[in-house]
Amino acid sequence: MCGIVTAIATNNVVPVLLEGLRKLEYRGYDSAGVAVLANGLTRLRSTGRVAELAALADARQLSANIGIAHTRWATHGVPCERNAHPHISGGLAVVHNGIIENFEAIKSSLQARGYVFESDTDTEAIAHLVHSKLATTPDLFEAVRLALNELVGAYAIGVVAEADPFRAIVARRGSPLLLGVGEEGMYAASDTAALLQVTRKVIYLEDGDVAELRLNAYRIVRPDGTPAEREMHISSLSADAVELGQFRHYMQKEIFEQPQALGNTLEIIAGGGSVSPQLFGSRAPEVLDGVRRVLVLACGTSYHAGLVARYWLESVAKVPCSVEIASEYRYRESVPESDTLVVVISQSGETADTLAALKHAHGLGMGRTLAICNVPESAIVRETALRFITRAGPEIGVASTKAFTTQLAALALLTLTLAKLNGRLSEAEEARHLGALRHLPVAVQKVLELEPEIEKWAQRFAAKHHALFLGRGRHWPIAMEGALKLKEISYIHAEAYAAGELKHGPLALVDKDMPVIAVAPADELLEKLKSNLQEVRARGGELYVFADAGSEIAESEGLHILHMPEHYGMLSPVLHVIPLQLLSYHAALVKGTDVDKPRNLAKSVTVE
Ligand code: AGP
Repeated sequence: MCGIVTAIATNNVVPVLLEGLRKLEYRGYDSAGVAVLANGLTRLRSTGRVAELAALADARQLSANIGIAHTRWATHGVPCERNAHPHISGGLAVVHNGIIENFEAIKSSLQARGYVFESDTDTEAIAHLVHSKLATTPDLFEAVRLALNELVGAYAIGVVAEADPFRAIVARRGSPLLLGVGEEGMYAASDTAALLQVTRKVIYLEDGDVAELRLNAYRIVRPDGTPAEREMHISSLSADAVELGQFRHYMQKEIFEQPQALGNTLEIIAGGGSVSPQLFGSRAPEVLDGVRRVLVLACGTSYHAGLVARYWLESVAKVPCSVEIASEYRYRESVPESDTLVVVISQSGETADTLAALKHAHGLGMGRTLAICNVPESAIVRETALRFITRAGPEIGVASTKAFTTQLAALALLTLTLAKLNGRLSEAEEARHLGALRHLPVAVQKVLELEPEIEKWAQRFAAKHHALFLGRGRHWPIAMEGALKLKEISYIHAEAYAAGELKHGPLALVDKDMPVIAVAPADELLEKLKSNLQEVRARGGELYVFADAGSEIAESEGLHILHMPEHYGMLSPVLHVIPLQLLSYHAALVKGTDVDKPRNLAKSVTVE
């Protein structure tokens, strides 16, 4: 989704703004722009990459001490220069991430007052609205605050004005924004990575905050104008963590970081550690006491993690669990139950639908809430009673990989904790499960060594237009995740089915041009799955089977098998997703798609 950078400093901020945008590229965008104040307002916009905007800035020798910059992921209006941010009204410029739901009403009233709109965006309405406020409220900060009070929807904004060149105004509601306090000046951006170049001192703005940035000062107010104090944090994010290093793509780097990410996430149970409610926060003993069911709310890959957890929670902890797509739950009439633990799963912690679903659950009186999230200061984490922070490190590739496996690790710990609280986990079982969790990084490392063979398979996939993924039981969600990965980055249409459903419809699609990928661990469902594979072979379908070591499935014409190093019991989904991640990565490489920034997609989906 859109990314924002704002800077005011004693030195030239143009390189800072552009480098900030580069760091935000991973969020997904289709155009970029910058506006600076230096003897008046100068705006440059480009429908290409940030590198093209930087070339434009170079050619113009753009230099200034204050400015705003933006990467746009189109919502209102096609990607084109006219719709790219910043948007201007009179001498002021605005960048915006989010969606203004009442922009049409605002636009009509502003048009009636003579404002002319040049773009199709909702953002331009903000620019004109702020400008209109300046007629009666000459103070820019106040004008912005008053304008924001009329907006319905989500925003993070940055504003600069020709008539007021010594400060920038920023604000957020629903979309992420943080301030950076640097040696040379003050900054704001959509995430910390964009500001590491200038500072580690960051301040997370709360929903509704409006802030003024001056060269060496800042102030924050609430929507009604009352001053607000916000804590300063020293970011521990390492600059290396967001660099590619020896890897060709972030997705590849992140796939190979999984042993480390899992090791970090599971550090709390290293050595003699055991499972306990405290893993989920100091309030956990009280919040988890009396939990009788679990409701998981999430989107995309995080939703798939929840689906795997359902199998674990019901079989190991004997806790009934339902898993819902957040965007469905938030608009559906449901029956709240006070003994339900609501678990929201999100890599970014900013996904608009997941956040709204959580708020909806709160609104229904469901106060037992837990966030499983990779970003400690994110909006979702700040809204829940309990939290478990996965320690995957920044995930830059749009396709989620290490976030998924670390979410599974967190969910396995939750399963064991609830099982223990419910008296369903003997000491011996706990020790066995913990042993498997501790060994997980090593087990994942061994799976990664299969890459060369998977690469060969990927060569054959790239020419295909469709693929079917099959799995059963707790590996059905892994098949779903494999299909999502393949379509997301290689643009090959892929669908996943619970293998038993094949003959109830999808088998009609199977022919020699439809590769069928089967997740076939050596579990209690293997024999059933083998029958499903026969059904595919009998129709001429070409099978690619990820089996476990020792599984007796014989390779034959049209049936290719890759053996995983070991069978991993309950945690087997964590291992089985790895080859599917690698398969989609290599298929995308062969197809030459933009692996880390697939078309039309964004990393943090901060709009509905
Ligand atoms: C996965 O590869 C996706 N890019 C996407 O489905 C993602 O998992 C989803 O948008 C949810 O994001 P979150 O985990 O940050 O909430």
